[in-house]
Amino acid sequence: MLCPSRSMGLLLFCSFLLPLFLSYSEAGTVGVNYGRVANNLPPATKVVELLKSNDIGHVKLYDADPTVLRALAGTGIKVVVTIPNEILAATASRSGFAFAWVQRNVAAYYPSTQIEAIAVGNEVFVDTRNFTAFLIPAMQNVHAALSRLRLDSAVKVCSPIALTALQASYPPSAGSFRSDLAEPVMRPMLELLRTTGSYLMVNAYPFFAYEANADVISLDYALFRPNEGVVDSGNGLRYYSLLDAQIDAVFAAMSALKYDDIKIVISETGWPSKGDSNETGAGAANAAAYNGNLVRRVLSGNAGTPLRPQADLNVYVFALFNENQKPGPTSERNYGLFYPDEGKVYDIEFTLGGTNSGGGGLRWEEDRGRSKGGSKGSGSPPTLPQPSSSGTVRASSTGESWCVANAMVGKARLQAALDFACGEGGADCRSIQPGAACFEPDTVEAHAAYAFNSYYQRKGRAIGTCDFEGAAYLVSQPPKIGRCAFPSGA
Ligand SMILES: *[C@@H]1O[C@H](CO)[C@@H](O)[C@H](O)[C@H]1NC(C)=O
Ligand SMILES: *[C@@H]1O[C@H](CO)[C@@H](O)[C@H](O)[C@H]1NC(C)=O
Repeated sequence: MLCPSRSMGLLLFCSFLLPLFLSYSEAGTVGVNYGRVANNLPPATKVVELLKSNDIGHVKLYDADPTVLRALAGTGIKVVVTIPNEILAATASRSGFAFAWVQRNVAAYYPSTQIEAIAVGNEVFVDTRNFTAFLIPAMQNVHAALSRLRLDSAVKVCSPIALTALQASYPPSAGSFRSDLAEPVMRPMLELLRTTGSYLMVNAYPFFAYEANADVISLDYALFRPNEGVVDSGNGLRYYSLLDAQIDAVFAAMSALKYDDIKIVISETGWPSKGDSNETGAGAANAAAYNGNLVRRVLSGNAGTPLRPQADLNVYVFALFNENQKPGPTSERNYGLFYPDEGKVYDIEFTLGGTNSGGGGLRWEEDRGRSKGGSKGSGSPPTLPQPSSSGTVRASSTGESWCVANAMVGKARLQAALDFACGEGGADCRSIQPGAACFEPDTVEAHAAYAFNSYYQRKGRAIGTCDFEGAAYLVSQPPKIGRCAFPSGA
């Protein structure tokens, strides 16, 4: 579902540029988990209107409820349905059961309802009823059913795992799967994902790690705010976000089994807006920061991790609503972005594309070149090219090259480099002053990119003038950030 979305033109363009080791990744997508463990949620038709009015184009369900699937028909919203853990045993042992399930819950709605994946169970290893032995045969039967129905290229088979599937996760480079799962379950699962072109779904909650270790983990690190970073002693990579560290631990665990080519989709992540007094970190401001920064990062195409800078991670925020019937601590009932009356629990500060077009509306979808009519907001979000996997990008032989900011280094380092460039560096920073042509989008990344490029062009594109200690890199395609054009000459 990721690669085919690259436009043909871009592919062709890239193939001409192959010797330059350039590669551009698209921005990832942001969806929501539509959990329904509650007795006060609006009817499905109203929920679908809520998704549409917030430009939420991807939704994950924990079942395959017919009223929900019908309500989603014709909307273009991409849907993940789930086979509940309770019926994994039947799905595994009887291929006819699996076939009937797929026929009744997927084929009957597709393509009018855009089902793109079937989650076979959810966090199966965590379920105390221990359905682990059924997982792989169930996934195989579901895939066979999809093949028989000729839906296997449109609909992927996957199964969200919790981070507790890892035996080691710190440092990230030492990530490995639990020994009781690695060979019997994870290897065959990864093999199935590889042969069917699917992806590993991972539920990852920096909140839990922070809550349990608030004395040693910085809140800024957990919330994607500027911070010092944490160095992985295994490979020297520096991490600026706990989510990156968690996801890279999973990438490392896959690498240990020699599965380096499988994508990860973050099938759940989120932060509670309320908690018990001992649930350190729970709160609306932190939830808004976590989800807002996450969404912005994914949509701006900067969701790659230190181990996989090119990964255009797709994420599903947990959850759409506060769910009043969830058991457990208070936080469990307060992960929602919306109250059951459809009011927002908090405003996500979302600055992609510059001005928050009044009303503080959430913008969930990057609308680069495929905006739907009626979408508000000014201009396109920033489209920053990604650094190459080798870490260095050479200028094109035609001499056209630009210098842009590497958001991976974090805001603090970008700001320091920006200050230098506009100060003693002598870059022309008039255009990024308030009111000037390139002030919007008003973000450190966008301003730094503009200033770095000015510095680089003024220095005659000399070797080493687009570095800023790793905060900058070269591209040979004109960057476009908001409405701001970048000069290509001095
Ligand atoms: C769960 O089932 C698997 C496979 O049948 C078995 O190897 C494992 O020991 C079981 N785990 C627990 C905790 O009972
Ligand atoms: C918080 O306190 C409750 C009892 O008041 C306890 O059951 C729970 O385990 C505690 N949670 C944490 C994260 O310490």
